[in-house]
Amino acid sequence: MQQRNTPVEGTAARRNASVAVAAGTVLGLVALSGGTAHAATPTDHGRPVAQIIGGTEKPDGSYPFMAALLIKGKGKPLDRHFCGGSLLSPDVVMTAAHCVDDVKPKQIETVVGRTVLSSKKQGHLRNIRTITIHPRYNGDYDVAFLELDKPVYGIAPVNLPTPGTDALIRPGSKATVAGWGNTDTEVPTHPDRLRAVNVPIVSHIECKATYSNYNKKVHVCAGVEGKDSCQGDSGGPLFRTLKGRKGVYQIGVVSYGDGCAAQGAPGVYTYTGSAQLWDTLWKSAEGKRVKRLLNR
Ligand code: ARG
Repeated sequence: MQQRNTPVEGTAARRNASVAVAAGTVLGLVALSGGTAHAATPTDHGRPVAQIIGGTEKPDGSYPFMAALLIKGKGKPLDRHFCGGSLLSPDVVMTAAHCVDDVKPKQIETVVGRTVLSSKKQGHLRNIRTITIHPRYNGDYDVAFLELDKPVYGIAPVNLPTPGTDALIRPGSKATVAGWGNTDTEVPTHPDRLRAVNVPIVSHIECKATYSNYNKKVHVCAGVEGKDSCQGDSGGPLFRTLKGRKGVYQIGVVSYGDGCAAQGAPGVYTYTGSAQLWDTLWKSAEGKRVKRLLNR
């Protein structure tokens, strides 16, 4: 089973009622959502997989372009967290479409540059003005853009690869994925402190063999047994550094996987170096708005 969990059916529903509420679909089902706590424990064909899985805690200030998506409300940030994201420009956070296709801007907020979710003094908390889902989103093209109500200055946004190049996704090369997602495939466990793991890029051929709907034009795979992103990491960045270049390059957005960290089932990411992904976005009316925001 592929787990592309929305705030409603997966990550969030497992975590607590408030996220399910904020997901907008289940306003009347608060009590019920508490009962789904075990719903999406990742398994590998029934076998629980080893325990971001296989990663380590990150010190305060790590990966400042990292964003956490929170459902608005009274609960603790840890309980309100439902996805990751990344700062693309002072006004725009990029995330996965499946994270936000069921919510209204008013229902969520994002904090950029925070490492420990409960440390309210860390990072820049922002309301969302608009949500733009990729016009071709249909399982693939799993990317969305959040327009912030106020820019975030003083944090260097993440860089993107030149569209149409694949130099950054050679199979076997190493990338990093970070997030506050599940760290344990047997008992859903959600950390307060940001974690990251280094994962190898997996070839399109291998990925297509595992995932029939894998689309090499807009996907990239990464991970190895014991090292992967997991539920709650969705929307967050897969990134790497480049020799002789400053800054960090984001090559993927956490999208889906069959369980987490299982053998032969790497994580699937929306490929942010895809020419097709950006061309189709820029051609659409909603994409033009994003383009304006990114260029200003
Ligand atoms: N769909 C998941 C989420 O909503 C992310 C799953 C990533 N899975 C993986 N095996 N890399 O958080």
